[in-house]
Amino acid sequence: MMHSLDFGSVEKALAGCRWGHTLFTYDSIGSTMDRAGELAHKGAREGALVIAAEQTEGRGRLNRKWISPPGSLYFSVLLYPPIEKLPYLTMLAGLAVAEAIEECVAVQAGLKWPNDVLIGGRKAAGMLVESSFSRGKQYAVIGVGINVNVDISTSPEITGVATSLSEQAGMPVDSLNLLRAAIDRIESRYSNFDKTALLDSWKARLITLGQPVKATMGEATIEGTATDVTDEGALIIRRTDGSICTVVAGDVTLS
Ligand code: BTN
Repeated sequence: MMHSLDFGSVEKALAGCRWGHTLFTYDSIGSTMDRAGELAHKGAREGALVIAAEQTEGRGRLNRKWISPPGSLYFSVLLYPPIEKLPYLTMLAGLAVAEAIEECVAVQAGLKWPNDVLIGGRKAAGMLVESSFSRGKQYAVIGVGINVNVDISTSPEITGVATSLSEQAGMPVDSLNLLRAAIDRIESRYSNFDKTALLDSWKARLITLGQPVKATMGEATIEGTATDVTDEGALIIRRTDGSICTVVAGDVTLS
């Protein structure tokens, strides 16, 4: 079920969708993030979508590489969010993608703070949000990478920590169906923005809560138990001495 991500097939899969009216598909590109940023500078409409079958310079959070061989989904969507939605975009995308995966594949998808989608304890998808100004207007790009029909063992850098949907499902996964589900769910949670419902559903999927964790923020490392998240999505960690630390951005490993 390795559907091609050519323009015609993607356009058909997205028929009736509120986003993707401006659509660019690539067999190979550096990063869909850069292309979506260029579209913002050209004044493209909200919901413009860039999809690539492969990325040569795919990037993740914290300046990491996002290994992007053919077989998976890589896309970026351009938005002009009002300021109150901006801090919630990664949360919103992570939740929507986890829900879309469960809709399309018989697996359970959890979230590791802040926004990694984990299946069977391994990372299956990641979100990256970049925002900037163009023409006096704030724009944001949500980038989504989902490991769909790839053999992770061929990428030694991520073997052991990553997984793919086909590996978890034991069969190939329909990428176009999953793309449609992900776009619809991100669009719906964005357009019908409900902060309380979003936080509740996101927290319910957050496997990090209650776990012993090690958080790294630049040079600093904090060890303790992840007890809760704030209304803005920051992670609250209780150290063994009882002191509390709030991690706004950074990385967390479950220890
Ligand atoms: C992460 O977990 O660190 C975020 C990964 C985000 C990867 C996606 S793939 C599509 C888009 N283009 C990129 O270069 N990165 C994002």
